[in-house]
Amino acid sequence: MSLRAEIEGDWHAALAALCWQYDCGVDEFVVDEPVNRYDLPETLNPPAPAARPAARGTTRQPAAPEVPDAPAKVDPVAEARALAARAPSLAALQAALSQFEHCEVKKGARNTVFADGNPEARVLILGEAPGRDEDIEGRPFVGRAGQLLDQMFGAIGLTRDAEEASRALYITNVLPWRPPGNRDPEPAEIAMMQPFVERHISLANPEVIVALGNVPLITLTGQGSILKSRGKWMTALKRPLLPMVHPAYLLRNPAAKREAWADLLTLQARLRG
Ligand code: URA
Repeated sequence: MSLRAEIEGDWHAALAALCWQYDCGVDEFVVDEPVNRYDLPETLNPPAPAARPAARGTTRQPAAPEVPDAPAKVDPVAEARALAARAPSLAALQAALSQFEHCEVKKGARNTVFADGNPEARVLILGEAPGRDEDIEGRPFVGRAGQLLDQMFGAIGLTRDAEEASRALYITNVLPWRPPGNRDPEPAEIAMMQPFVERHISLANPEVIVALGNVPLITLTGQGSILKSRGKWMTALKRPLLPMVHPAYLLRNPAAKREAWADLLTLQARLRG
């Protein structure tokens, strides 16, 4: 089957094919023959709008070109702030996120990955963005990194399935949509998601936040150097924040698991204390 036939009608396949070409270095499309754009048919170069007839008795003025009203400029961050502020509950916040159309990554995502676990939990884990498995399933941290996350926090008695708040986890991400090719979220994307993240944390009202990796650390504190900050208590949104390295980093660097274990014990001591 040709590539064209394969992608026809499937938005995700088309995007994946485009990303693949981009990753291969394609940044411009060149056709076989040079194109003289002055010779293109009229339909591609519409004529200027006709001048209005002058009113009787007036001197004829050159007609001003009709300029269509420019669409009102939208400030995505201001809109995110307004939508998030109006959400009185987690369900309303989830609905507000599905109405928000200014984040480009949403267009390529299958699901809005909102959260998982127990919203009553004492500990809220903030990750970066869904990956492929999370995008398909619609739940955060269900792929390999998620399995490691479950093992890590399970080792100190915290799980996303627990009904009891003291043993539970609540898990969400800075971005609820998978960025194409799992690229890092861009600063503008983080900025427009920040009001939603802050409202999410305020509504869930955890006792402690754990930031997994640089993206959540930057989102919550404005600074990001996870390898320097990990394991040290900070404050964000007037709550204790513990930065830890992302489980995906631990999968690539198993030697860092020793430090991650120390960070988990730091969290456990705080919860016990
Ligand atoms: N990595 C994240 O940061 N979040 C997920 O949900 C999955 C992988």
